[in-house]
This record gives sequence, structure tokens and C-alpha cells, in this order.
Amino acid sequence: METKIKAITPDSLVEAKNLIFDGEVVAMPTETVYGLGGNAFDDGAVQRIFAVKGRPADNPLIAHVHTGYDLSQIIDYDPPYAKKLREAFLPGPLTLVYPSTGKVSAYVSCGLNTLAVRVPSHAGAQSFLKAVDIPIVAPSANLSKHVSPTSAEHVYDDFNGQIPLILDGGVCEGGIESTVCDVTGEYPVILRPGLITAKMIASVVGKCGEYTPNLTAGEKVKSPGVLYKHYSPRCQTLLFENAADGLAACKGVNATRVAVLCENAIAETFVKTGVTVLNLGETEQEMAARLYELLREAEKVCDVLIAIEPQKKDGVMVGVLNRLRKACTSVDIRH
Ligand code: TXA
Ligand code: MG
Repeated sequence: METKIKAITPDSLVEAKNLIFDGEVVAMPTETVYGLGGNAFDDGAVQRIFAVKGRPADNPLIAHVHTGYDLSQIIDYDPPYAKKLREAFLPGPLTLVYPSTGKVSAYVSCGLNTLAVRVPSHAGAQSFLKAVDIPIVAPSANLSKHVSPTSAEHVYDDFNGQIPLILDGGVCEGGIESTVCDVTGEYPVILRPGLITAKMIASVVGKCGEYTPNLTAGEKVKSPGVLYKHYSPRCQTLLFENAADGLAACKGVNATRVAVLCENAIAETFVKTGVTVLNLGETEQEMAARLYELLREAEKVCDVLIAIEPQKKDGVMVGVLNRLRKACTSVDIRH
């Protein structure tokens, strides 16, 4: 199958819509990362998404809808505080998990009675969702366990020959996936941290729980080996909490191609040693926006990536650190 990359135009939207109603999957941009989209009501399309990605069958998908979509078709109960969250943050990088009506394909939520719903703010995503006018389920458009894609080229690198069309909406501004927040209980609980932080949610509805036991702000990094591998570049990775340990590791690593991923504040220290430096930048938004691009760059330029945790641990950095820690393997190749 030929994989076409097309700018979002009236013509490419018609083509995308036809493909979707034929049961195919189409990659689409969002403000966070690219998604691999399919018709949420079509069992075959949903199964195809799992197959193309190599995604474990027990990991549910997010349904994406346009701003005017009638949520009552797909969600069963809408607590008053969820409405406040939608008014404050949507469209945008916040996914809400509601009790489901069960109308979408049973494969979407992998047997759970809930449904994750997201209203992306990306103009191209909105055009596509309005054109189809149905919920589009879309996981990040990367092979399972690989780094999430923030450009059409990243999607092409993972799925060339496997999908018919990639709608090209440019580079994603957000850079890490949406905050996933459960709204089935008395108050919201974050299941996956992201650009909409617990503090932002609590400021609107008074309270916000966080279901990230190992990865909450300020908690010490446990052995990377205990963390489920995810978002990983195809090179070996080592994660350190500070520049001094990273520097010592640079000297001890047995590899010719070594790169360091770190924040701007300590980049100069590593530039001096002669290794390739992948600079995450300074602000939390910059670090989120660059993380996946640089992890994909790492697999091209090095055999071993030494990553140093940025010092800021709260706010958006909860999400950035969650992804960075999961990207790092437990393999210790120092000697
Ligand atoms: O920014 C994003 O959310 C991107 C773009 C494409 O929208 N999508 C994305 O999808 O990151 P994916 O499939 O890579 O991650 C979906 C996350 C997973 O952690 C999944 O377990 C969780 O959302 N999730 C989906 N449905 C759920 C549900 N019913 N209950 C709890 N968690 C759910
Ligand atoms: Mg993903």
C-alpha cells in the first residue's frame, strides 16, 4: 500500500472521510501528537488500529470529536464538574474518561464501561472531525512502545506502506500526549499527566487527584527497570538525576556514538566533553514540545543516550518526566 502525506485541504478531507467510512485508518494531526484514526463505531477499523500499531489488546483508545458533537450519544453520565472542565480547557489537550453508553465499538474501551473522549484544538483535526461527524478513535500514531510522533514524517517513518493517508498539519505544538482525567467519580483524578496540570484542574473545580504512584512530582526516581518501557528510542538509554552522574557516565560508557539529552541550563557542560548534545530548552512548554523530536533524533545519531532529568519537577514537568522515565530502559551498559 502506498502511504500518501497530504496537506489538509477540502480535497484531502473528502479522501480522508471516504477512507474512514471504508473502514481504513488515517493519521491526523492534533495539538499534542499525531493520532492514528478510525471510525469508533466500526469494529473492523478499531481492530485494524490495534493490529497496525502492535498495541496490547487491553489498552483502551481515546475517542476524538469536534467541538459541536453531541456527547450524549457516547457518554452516559456527565457530572457537573466535567462541564466546568470542558468550559475551561476544551478544545485542548485534556481527555475526560466518562461512563460510556456502550454505543461505540466494544473494542475501543477493551471491555471497560468507560469511554475516554477528547476534543482537540488543532484546526486541522477539527476540520477532519467535522468532515466525518463521528467519533474518531485515535491512539498516538507510533508503533507500540516507540516514541510518539510530533510530525507527519514521524508517522511516515513508523507506518510507511501500512496506512493509506497521513493528513499533514505541521509540527505539533504541545509535544506530549493529552492529560487523561477520570470524571466518573466525585472529583477528577488524573490517570496520565500532561499539559493540563492537576493544579489547573483543581483551580477550576476545587480538587484533583493524581493516579501516578511512582511518578508524582518530587518523588525520587526508582530504578528505571521497574518502569514499564514505552515511548522508547531504538538506542540504549540511561537516565540520571543530575549533571555530575551524567558526566561520569559519559566517561564510562563503552560506545562510540554517545548523545546527551538535557535541559539548556547544563548543556554547555556536556558540549565541552565533545558528545552530541540534544538540548531540551528552558521552559516546561519547550521541553514538552521537543522531547519526542529529540528522542527520535537520538536513535539516528547515537547508540547510547544519556538523559539527565531537568531540575523542575512540578507542573507540566510531571508529564515530561513521566514520558522521559518510561523512555529509559533498564539496561545498564556502563562498565
Ligand atoms: O494527546 C493524545 O491523547 C493523543 C492524541 C492522538 O490525541 N492520543 C493518545 O492516545 O495519546 P494513546 O492511545 O497513545 O493513549 C491513550 C491513553 C492510554 O494511556 C489509555 O490507557 C488511556 O488513554 N485510556 C483510554 N481509554 C481509557 C479509559 N476508558 N479508561 C482509562 N484510561 C483510558
Ligand atoms: Mg501512545
